[in-house]
Amino acid sequence: MLDKNRMPKHVAIIMDGNGRWAKKRNLPRVMGHNAGMQAMKEIVRRASDLGIKYLTVYAFSTENWKRSEEEITGIFRLLVKFVGLDLGELKEQNVRVRVFGDYSCIPARAKASMDEMLEETKDNTGLQFNIALNYGGRLDITRAVNHLAEKVRSGEITGEITEDMISRALYSGDENGDVPDPDVIIRTSGEERISNFLLWQAAYSEFVFTDVLWPDFTPEIFEQTLEQYQSRDRRFGGRK
Ligand code: FPP
Repeated sequence: MLDKNRMPKHVAIIMDGNGRWAKKRNLPRVMGHNAGMQAMKEIVRRASDLGIKYLTVYAFSTENWKRSEEEITGIFRLLVKFVGLDLGELKEQNVRVRVFGDYSCIPARAKASMDEMLEETKDNTGLQFNIALNYGGRLDITRAVNHLAEKVRSGEITGEITEDMISRALYSGDENGDVPDPDVIIRTSGEERISNFLLWQAAYSEFVFTDVLWPDFTPEIFEQTLEQYQSRDRRFGGRK
């Protein structure tokens, strides 16, 4: 049973397996992403109902530009569709949406939808739903380092650079409300890799892997993965 008193503060998810889900059904890959978007919506709803404070999903990585133009266009069209259909519900649920990643270069309509969603939910105080979009962990760290280097050059930082300064310069830092590191990272579809997701932030995260393809990932399975997380003994490098 899920212990409501020991819920993770921050859950991060690598939503993998949309392509294989579509292939199994002889459908185009973008139909797999469409089904994946439906699954994502259900998980946002359940995370919000469970009182989880932060949910971060890997929607598009810095490496995903290598995919076919058709697939890339399809994914960004889905983003526009998501905002069109679900912004109202996100607002009702008091969900605040934020972005991790450099989304300035995504197609203009998708960027406009994203901006609208950020603006319209910015005063919400419930679940913070972070969408990693054109995100890469190395990009995140490189950007933070450049940001701090600039502060050294300008004289704003005079002493040593600390871990805390680096954390605060990441996408999960100051600019997005100082999101705590993920307690648990879930990856679906049987792959067991980090794939350039939240590299710095994952230092002490628990990993839960499942063979379920992302479009088949239900709120019930989500709760089971959280139970698995709760059964772990987290020591953060110390001893008990
Ligand atoms: C990985 O599956 C999934 C993605 C790269 C895209 C994730 C996108 C969504 C869930 C829907 C869109 C949502 C937003 C907010 C834009 P894969 O294609 O790598 O699957 P495969 O490994 O089976 O090929």
